[in-house]
Amino acid sequence: MSRPTCSCCYDEAFDADFAASELRRYRRRGPGRASKAMADALSRPSPSGLSVLDIGAGVGSVHHLLLERGAASALDVDASSGYLAAARDEAAARGLQDRVTFRHGDFVGLAPGIPAADLVALDRVVCCYPDVDALVRLSAERTRRRMAITLPPDHRLARIVIRLVNVWEWVTRSDLRIHAHAHARVVAAARAAGLVPLSSVSIGAWRLLLFERPILTSDTP
Ligand SMILES: C[S@@+](CC[C@H](N)C(=O)[O-])C[C@H]1O[C@@H](n2cnc3c(N)ncnc32)[C@H](O)[C@@H]1O
Repeated sequence: MSRPTCSCCYDEAFDADFAASELRRYRRRGPGRASKAMADALSRPSPSGLSVLDIGAGVGSVHHLLLERGAASALDVDASSGYLAAARDEAAARGLQDRVTFRHGDFVGLAPGIPAADLVALDRVVCCYPDVDALVRLSAERTRRRMAITLPPDHRLARIVIRLVNVWEWVTRSDLRIHAHAHARVVAAARAAGLVPLSSVSIGAWRLLLFERPILTSDTP
């Protein structure tokens, strides 16, 4: 695997035990609100026949929803091998194994070899990664139609909560750090790759940002 460009290790922060417990929870309760809202946003007008790139997919809730609604295929790129194993198990349990491909590693390092997809999802991933400009720009460059990102809201209270979470990570000797990236930076990185922002909505404790690649017509100046 290529190492994340930060010093933390996602294999340790999201290890096999953690991923297995998230998978049990997912099987009991289904996808979380943010994942459902993201899949809904990416499903409009229809995901039928489209390809999906799910970066840091965790147990795979977003690509499961899109595949079950008719998307043709999904590529899950995750820096956690525990999460990849859980997502692979769940894809098999749902009969989706022939339509999902799995890659282990840091998307930013792997990006030159990752093909473009119609729909790109980063569900609660950007806040785990220090280099927001590279992660969002490279994801946007691989987006043919729509890209959706969930991340913490961009206000003072969220930044305080994130600081407290990082104190906990430090106390428990985890290398993982959560980042309160400014949404303006996320939007600028997506714009730099040719996407336009469509919407920004609150989903519980998260914010969902949706982007689209404009369709160039012959009358586009
Ligand atoms: C908080 S978990 C979210 C998992 C899932 N998307 C969800 O919402 O339940 C963050 C995930 O992003 C992955 N991740 C973070 N940065 C990544 C990167 N640069 N490349 C690939 N995976 C990354 C981690 O390994 C982990 O699986």
